[in-house]
Amino acid sequence: MADEQGYGLLKGKKGLIFGALDERSIAWRIALACKREGAEFSLSNAPVALRFGDLDELSEKTGAEVFPCDVTNEDEIEELMENVKEEHGQIDFMLHAIGMSPNVRKKQDYKELNYQWMQQTMDISAISLHKVIRYADEADILADGGSIVALSYIGAHRIFSKYSDMNDAKALLESIARNYGSRLADRGIRVNTVSQAPTKTSAGKGIKGFDGMYTFADKIAPMGNPTADECADYCVTLFSDLTRKVTMQNLYHDGGFVTSGIDEQMINDLAKIYADDEGDE
Ligand code: NAI
Repeated sequence: MADEQGYGLLKGKKGLIFGALDERSIAWRIALACKREGAEFSLSNAPVALRFGDLDELSEKTGAEVFPCDVTNEDEIEELMENVKEEHGQIDFMLHAIGMSPNVRKKQDYKELNYQWMQQTMDISAISLHKVIRYADEADILADGGSIVALSYIGAHRIFSKYSDMNDAKALLESIARNYGSRLADRGIRVNTVSQAPTKTSAGKGIKGFDGMYTFADKIAPMGNPTADECADYCVTLFSDLTRKVTMQNLYHDGGFVTSGIDEQMINDLAKIYADDEGDE
């Protein structure tokens, strides 16, 4: 983790952070890192999450106002942006850390997806990125030179069976980031996705087989899985002025997982596990 004093990278910057639920949430860790770096920001989550989560605690720690908003509801998003405008005027950064799939939650097999649930998955986890950018822009609160980051997962590009329709949602999320990024580029506003490794949070733990996905990634990645705090440090750099021309990218934050094949350790381990099979040949 970065020095507790921070580097003042976000001094004078204002922001809006979606998706902090409890202290394990990646957005929670990002909020703490933004505070450490000198930013002022507001927090938002769905009304139901405000009732069951611990957001008041984060609000107290960071001095951030909390505004309820279900990102599937356009009226609520519009109202949120007006509240944020009153609070900060314009914002320099926005974090989208929102994801939920009823099909994953209810362990519906991919070949038998419930399409109504799938639409909810897309709306909550992907289309909401378009909506929050759009309504922030229409309320004229996106400052020129700002930065928008949404959290993604490698399932957007590779097959992770247990991630079900969230794989499809992440692919759409990344596409929206590119497409909206191209339309905000002339104002110097960056839009990127950060593809984070499996991380032990409420959303993560809700996936059947998560522990297997976590261990697999951890074993393959030469640096091992990065933590939520490490993800937070990375996001801070993307919100800062040090990355002014990084846009329309999907940026892997995965300890080297995405470009790894197999290493000596894994070859030896697999040889032991499958010793009997090899003997058959
Ligand atoms: P989390 O459960 O702490 O965060 C998910 C958030 O989405 C919650 O705060 C929840 O209240 C919010 N949300 C759900 N429906 C909503 C709605 N209708 N309106 C507004 N907010 C809503 O879990 P986590 O892991 O911190 O997830 C944050 C992001 O990181 C998600 O996009 C997730 O897909 C992504 N991610 C997570 C990984 C993991 O292994 N935990 C790996 C890669 C990406």
